[in-house]
Amino acid sequence: MKINSIKELIDISERFKNSLDKQYKQVLVCGGTGCVAGGSLEVYAEIKRLIEEKGLLAKVELYEEDKGIGIKKSGCHGFCEAGPLVRIEPDKFLYLKVKVEDCEEIVNSTLVEGKPVERLMYNVGDKVYHEQEEIPFYKSQTRVVLEHCGHIDAESIQEYIAYGGYQALAKAIGTMTPEEVCKEISDASLRGRGGGGYPAGKKWSQVLSYSSDMKYVICNGDEGDPGAFMDRSLMEGDPHNIIEGMAIAAYATGASEGYIYVRAEYPLAVARLNKAIEQAREIGLLGKNILGTGLNFDLHVNQGAGAFVCGEGSALIASIEGERGMPRVKAKRTVEEGLWRKPTVLNNVETFANVRHIIMNGAEWYRSFGTKGSQVQRPLH
Ligand SMILES: Cc1cc2nc3c(=O)[nH]c(=O)nc-3n(C[C@H](O)[C@H](O)[C@H](O)COP(=O)(O)O)c2cc1C
Ligand code: FES
Repeated sequence: MKINSIKELIDISERFKNSLDKQYKQVLVCGGTGCVAGGSLEVYAEIKRLIEEKGLLAKVELYEEDKGIGIKKSGCHGFCEAGPLVRIEPDKFLYLKVKVEDCEEIVNSTLVEGKPVERLMYNVGDKVYHEQEEIPFYKSQTRVVLEHCGHIDAESIQEYIAYGGYQALAKAIGTMTPEEVCKEISDASLRGRGGGGYPAGKKWSQVLSYSSDMKYVICNGDEGDPGAFMDRSLMEGDPHNIIEGMAIAAYATGASEGYIYVRAEYPLAVARLNKAIEQAREIGLLGKNILGTGLNFDLHVNQGAGAFVCGEGSALIASIEGERGMPRVKAKRTVEEGLWRKPTVLNNVETFANVRHIIMNGAEWYRSFGTKGSQVQRPLH
């Protein structure tokens, strides 16, 4: 199936969403690295087997109406210490430290009879927290870039589209000029999340200002800082969000090719990104003439070999070019001469993950976040 226009994207999004809403229940087994290490794939297989045995499994494809039970692997919920986690929707139940032996009770009590299994829920003394969002760990969180992580099937483009995915790209191409997209990102005061904090909109405007036969967008997913898993969570849990942010950057700057540089120690992130790119290509959201708008943009995943220094922009570019990954002394900046000496946008994973939200909700909405002390009051141009 190809999506050939913006209108088709909106129509298909509604169809997918209706199909999901009609499912009687959905089981989200955490497929993040922490829970996988704790045995969540075995839990997934067992729940799936039991639902199948009862003839209750929903169809995998979302094109048809289906009242069965959907089961999927989500990304990390951020509560890895309590994993493997299983979330049940629409009840919002969250089961903690789930083992294969617990699956039968979950299926019989919750999925068949609709009752919670309280012994698997978060509790403090006598208080049992039925809804995930009520658990103190989650209650004070406002999830923006992590909105989908733990809540949608990380390996399904259909679900991403059902929840409004790729509509920011459609909005940008369909209603904004590249200059307006760069200005919106600047007005939002989006700073690079890779450590330097450089204004992303300013970087994009600079790339846009250079004319060239070729421009590139690079996503820095090297995440060398030990124990820093924010980029990993996003790449594993919501890969299409990163692709959409990069495609918007491509439209805004005139780039037609992109690379996601991921450390090879993140095999799940590499696999999910590759799968997501394939799905987006197949459906016409990457490649030539995206959504029938004339935008051409394609993406590749480049695996790093685990050198901390390859997270630095010029070393990362050298590594993609097949050279030794060493920082370079450059006469010109990456925005003018980056990959293969062509104008290049280089941003961190989390930076790209914010883009969709800014385009959909506007710069003012985005600037309203933050504490009093750290809130950015004026646009970064
Ligand atoms: C030694 C070194 C390591 C770095 N490692 C990373 C990294 O792992 N991930 C990252 O996004 N940026 C890293 N950076 C920053 C990048 O050079 C670059 O500024 C950043 O990817 C740009 O994206 P941003 O503007 O969205 O932050 C590193 C910088 C240095 C000097
Ligand atoms: S990996 Fe499952 S909660 Fe983090």
